[in-house]
Amino acid sequence: MSRRHALVTGGAGFIGSHLVDKLLDRGFEVTVLDCLLPQVHGDAEMAADGWPIYLNPEARRIKGNILDDGVFESSLTGVTHLVHLAASVGVGQSMTNIVDYTRNNTMATAVVLDVLSRCQHSVERMAVASSMSVYGEGEYRSASTQGSLAPPPRTQEQLQHRAWELTRSDGKMTEALEPVATKEGKPLHPASIYAINKRDQEEMCLTVGRALGIPTVALRLFNAYGSRQALSNPYTGVAAIFISRLLNGEPPLVFEDGEQKRDFVHVGDVAEAFATVLESDKRVWEAFNVGSGQSVTVNSIARTLARLLRKNIAPQVLDKYRVGDIRHCFADISRIEKEFEFKPRQEFDDGMEELIRWVVTARKPVDRSASSLAELTRGRMVV
Ligand SMILES: NC(=O)c1ccc[n+]([C@@H]2O[C@H](COP(=O)([O-])OP(=O)(O)OC[C@H]3O[C@@H](n4cnc5c(N)ncnc54)[C@H](O)[C@@H]3O)[C@@H](O)[C@H]2O)c1
Repeated sequence: MSRRHALVTGGAGFIGSHLVDKLLDRGFEVTVLDCLLPQVHGDAEMAADGWPIYLNPEARRIKGNILDDGVFESSLTGVTHLVHLAASVGVGQSMTNIVDYTRNNTMATAVVLDVLSRCQHSVERMAVASSMSVYGEGEYRSASTQGSLAPPPRTQEQLQHRAWELTRSDGKMTEALEPVATKEGKPLHPASIYAINKRDQEEMCLTVGRALGIPTVALRLFNAYGSRQALSNPYTGVAAIFISRLLNGEPPLVFEDGEQKRDFVHVGDVAEAFATVLESDKRVWEAFNVGSGQSVTVNSIARTLARLLRKNIAPQVLDKYRVGDIRHCFADISRIEKEFEFKPRQEFDDGMEELIRWVVTARKPVDRSASSLAELTRGRMVV
């Protein structure tokens, strides 16, 4: 077999570093291109060479920003497999940093694709990280209609009345909608700048990948959790943030009533999904959900973590909402199971235990929940 060489943009980050380990294990040569964003890496433990201590020493490292002239092009030498993970990650923050997010997510993807279309290279296959956020609200069904529904986002008026659940009204009566697992065919209704950026990244990569004849897969990741998640970044990783709060003796801060349903997928399963689609020889240009296939409420995550940490601390229900937040969304993973025979393996409680062990042994968790809440409130993004 000829040498397979993967370039992982954002490879020093949470998901990227796990993927780097996996690809090296599978015999890939791996290059990481990462600019080490301060928000992600500012409080992390760095080795003497300035890279995160956890980054696999066998990976070649290029410190650079995709947006800077020539950086991406010069990273592509000998690359056969491209994984584009680099991004600014945070739903709430994207709504107050619109230019930065759009530049670093949409524009950086344009740079990647422009280089692929203009320059000589050896890329045979590509995967891009998309997100469940592209769906906006997840999929629902109602007792009175057949089939699934893709309801629009809740209105400001509804949210101001603290009526959190989705309903459907025919003028005479109003019925509650039941959330069901979301399939890839659900119409996309992104509800934040981050989500719009992710949809753009996904569509840009699929479209240009197809035009260039490079098989391309966009993985719509649900809520990934696991070791190496940036503890100091208040905008991502709710489980790691809750653990930091609990370790500091503070209650996890929960928006709305905490009964929102999500799908938490272990980072090892996410890395496995990327490795699987990269190693396949299927010529596809499609998006696939990557989740655990299980739904959990935000309250139950807070309670599970408190139990595992032996802390008698209940979540603090804020009864406030974040502009752009959705109510329920969890994954139907049958498409990726069928196409690539991919199955998530990690049990939820085991995964959370492992996350706790990592947070406890990592450096003292920095908790910026309160300051990020203040920032979002000032920007009128929390009401
Ligand atoms: N973590 C999740 O739950 C989740 C869910 C859905 C989608 N995703 C997507 O997965 C990808 C990886 O997420 P993550 O959680 O590992 O994030 P992360 O912040 O830990 O990693 C992103 C990495 O990209 C680097 N980076 C950012 N902009 C760059 C640029 N312009 N040039 C070079 N490097 C740059 C950062 O320094 C960082 O190391 C992102 O595209 C994200 O949108 C993540």
